Amino acid sequence: FAVLELRAALLTWYSQSGRNLPWRQTCDPYAIWVSEIMLQQTQVKTVIPYFDRWMLQFPTIEAIAAADLQSVLKAWEGLGYYARARNLHRAAQDIVQQHDGIFPTELDAVLALPGIGRTTAGGILSAAFNQPLAILDGNVKRVLARLIALDVPIAKALPRLWKLSQDLVDPKHGRDFNQALMDLGATVCTPHNPACLVCPWQSHCQAYNLGTQSQIPMSETR
Ligand code: ADE
Repeated sequence: FAVLELRAALLTWYSQSGRNLPWRQTCDPYAIWVSEIMLQQTQVKTVIPYFDRWMLQFPTIEAIAAADLQSVLKAWEGLGYYARARNLHRAAQDIVQQHDGIFPTELDAVLALPGIGRTTAGGILSAAFNQPLAILDGNVKRVLARLIALDVPIAKALPRLWKLSQDLVDPKHGRDFNQALMDLGATVCTPHNPACLVCPWQSHCQAYNLGTQSQIPMSETR
C-alpha cells in the first residue's frame, strides 16, 4: 500500500478543497467535543447554527457542567437524540470532578466519558491535539471500503477497517488527515455517484480501478 502517497495526496486535496467549518477554527477540545457529538446523528448544515449558539450559551466545560439539565435540553431542541445532550452534561460534570475541568488527553480517559465511543474519541483527540488516532464513522467506512474494494459488508470487516484507518492516519498530521478523510467521504466519495474524477485517491482506489465503486460497500442484508 502506498501509504505515503495516499497521505500526501489527501492532505494536498484538503488544503485546496477542504470545507471551512466553525469547529475547525479552534483547537479547544470542548468546542470540538460538542461539534462531534452534534455531528454523530445530524448533518453538518443543520449542526452549524446549533454549534454557534451553543458555544455562546455554554462557552466552557464549567459552564455546561453548572447549567441545569433543562436549559441544556432546551439548547439541544430540534437536534433529536436527546441522550446526546444528557451525556454531554453528565460528561462535563465528570470532567470537572475527575479532571479538574480540563478535557483529558488520554484516549482511555476520553473513552470513559458517557457518549464518547472510539470514532468520536479519535475525532476529538486528533482535531484538538493533533494525535494520530484512527476514526471510522459512516463516511470513512465507505471511503476505506472502496479503497480496498472490500468484498464483504462493512459489518463483517470492522477490525480490518479500523486497522486500515490507523495505518493510514498521518503521524504528523492527525488533525488535517482525519478532517480530510471525513470531507472526502462527505463531498467526493459519496454513497451515490461518487466524484471519482476529482478524487485525490483515484489512482489508488481498488474499487475505481475495477469499476465497482457503485457496488461498494456491499449491502448488509443476506
Ligand atoms: N462529521 C463528524 N465529525 C465531523 C467533522 N469534524 N467535520 C465534518 N463532518 C464531521
